[in-house]
Amino acid sequence: MALTDKYGRVHTYLRVSVTDRCNYRCVYCMPAEGMSWVPRKELLTYEEIARIVRVFADLGIRQVRLTGGEPTMRADITQLIAALKATPGIDDLAMTTNGHTLPRLAPALAAAGLTRLNVSIDSLRPDRFAALTRNGNLERVLAGIEAARTAGLTPIKLNAVLLAGENDDEIFDLVEYAAAAQGDLQLRFIEYMPFEARWHRCVPAAEVRRRLATRYTLTRTPDKIGGGPSREWRIAENGLNIGFISPLSHKFCDSCNRLRLMVDGHLRTCLAHEDTPSLRDIIRKGATDAALAASIRTMVLGKPDGHHCEVDGGEVFEGVMTGIGG
Ligand code: 5AD
Ligand code: SF4
Repeated sequence: MALTDKYGRVHTYLRVSVTDRCNYRCVYCMPAEGMSWVPRKELLTYEEIARIVRVFADLGIRQVRLTGGEPTMRADITQLIAALKATPGIDDLAMTTNGHTLPRLAPALAAAGLTRLNVSIDSLRPDRFAALTRNGNLERVLAGIEAARTAGLTPIKLNAVLLAGENDDEIFDLVEYAAAAQGDLQLRFIEYMPFEARWHRCVPAAEVRRRLATRYTLTRTPDKIGGGPSREWRIAENGLNIGFISPLSHKFCDSCNRLRLMVDGHLRTCLAHEDTPSLRDIIRKGATDAALAASIRTMVLGKPDGHHCEVDGGEVFEGVMTGIGG
């Protein structure tokens, strides 16, 4: 039976954060003073993750995305990819990365069975990129994207979080960069979600489209089957597909099909809420797969209705992003 909550939402998508560590510290993701990392013994082991994903697959999860922190910071990530790829029922295995390690790792990720890759890129100006990521290396990331193209991990989705007054003057540059890759790259603009404090301002999707329409013809294209939150458009002049993920200006909590397994084994049923029961504690107490499945069902039934954050106010998201995985 499907994994349904009390609002009737069916869950088919699981995001798995494999590490809270990151070689970058994006300004909107991590606090400036850094983080205290989750100690190693509190992390789920790869065996534990593989077992939990197997139980989720039995409950109807079909898509898994590895996130972080930066997922490639965890040692031997390709081993986990291969194990998850072999899980019956999981037909889509993706990863979100900052791209820094792709020049080295892209071929191994593809060989291990990764089906899709998202790369975060918020600026194409080296200095600004370094400032936004607190010391990231744009040249490396661009080389990483090329390595992923060569390895056949296409189409690659580029995620850009636009922050008003910080990088929203690069909308056209990002479009032109992605369009030049002739279908290998797709671009998605993600609205910044405020965690704990509102240091940045989001740029609502309609505003991004208004600006794009001064130069391009945008047509709405059908949304993906299975209903991800991205609303898709196509630019007639260059054929680029662009998506808008607009958690604030176009709230999609009503059709949310996702769950998040956090780095320490807590299940975050809603991105916005911190109240997360621990699957790790359940399995370390020796629960059977059936008992684990029953616990997961109960947790999903308790999933909150959604977030209550607006473009200009309302509540903020609870916690810090790293370790939740976006
Ligand atoms: N708001 C929106 N997107 C965010 N990400 C990280 N923090 C935030 C935030 N506060 C994005 C990253 C990455 C994805 C995993 O989540 O840019 O693309
Ligand atoms: Fe690292 Fe991604 Fe967070 Fe940036 S957004 S600090 S790359 S986990």
